[in-house]
Amino acid sequence: MSDHKDKVVVDHMDLYYDDFHALKDINLKMPEKEITAFIGPSGCGKSTLLKSLNRMNDLVEGCKITGKITIDGKDIYDKKVDVNQLRKRVGMVFQQPNPFDMSIYDNVAYGPRIHGIKNRSQLDQIVEKSLRGAGLWDEVKDRLKRNAIGVSGGQQQRICIARALAVEPDILLMDEPTSALDPISTAAIEDLAMELKENYTIVIVTHNMQQAVRISDRTAFFYLGEMVEYASTDQLFSNPQNPKTEEYITGRFG
Ligand SMILES: Nc1ncnc2c1ncn2[C@@H]1O[C@H](COP(=O)(O)OP(=O)(O)OP(=O)(O)O)[C@@H](O)[C@H]1O
Ligand SMILES: [Mg+2]
Repeated sequence: MSDHKDKVVVDHMDLYYDDFHALKDINLKMPEKEITAFIGPSGCGKSTLLKSLNRMNDLVEGCKITGKITIDGKDIYDKKVDVNQLRKRVGMVFQQPNPFDMSIYDNVAYGPRIHGIKNRSQLDQIVEKSLRGAGLWDEVKDRLKRNAIGVSGGQQQRICIARALAVEPDILLMDEPTSALDPISTAAIEDLAMELKENYTIVIVTHNMQQAVRISDRTAFFYLGEMVEYASTDQLFSNPQNPKTEEYITGRFG
């Protein structure tokens, strides 16, 4: 394994939706500038854990978390944390591309504008940089005023990635970002994720084990709210330590 320093640390974390115990004593450390994949059957808690990393679960009534999650050593659930600042640092991309019903340019400029940037040339620069970062600039540079809803699904997803990058996060959370996409768009997003990890810490939920193998450095396998195994991706797929992991990766359930 690499010697990258730990960026996100989950320490004895439990999560309840009312009285349903959705995550049980989760402990894992995710290094910076690597891709960590979360795998496991439907309902095992992957999205729940991902959303805990930028406090999206704050929006869910009845959701209670105990234990600790730190980013760069700081407790993100501390009372003093500004949740908007946290979400600026920890961007998120969802399963269904969800561009806003506005131009490509305005989608990408949305976050920076919210954070107070009004200067047109500064916004132009951010939009270009973010679209380049998302591997989309050459395809859309001549139609930035077009509505983002009108482009292909793969392009929409890269607009959403550009929108996330525009506020300069350090961490990018991706919840099954390619499951609604065709193989070519999927490959583009996978290549992009591998480029982005030079500068970002990436956590990706995927149902596609080949995808985890192709792009991730580490993989965590979840089952019924527990993290069963966490290891380098090579190790987890070639030599799983837990029989449940082996059953899952060999396709015997899930
Ligand atoms: N808002 C909520 N209120 C109550 N229960 C919830 C809520 N969100 C998720 N759950 C439950 O928590 C468990 C974990 O759900 P989660 O969405 O994290 O699973 P997942 O691993 O992402 O599944 P999938 O692969 O289907 O996306 C499930 O049993 C789910 O029904
Ligand atoms: Mg999910």
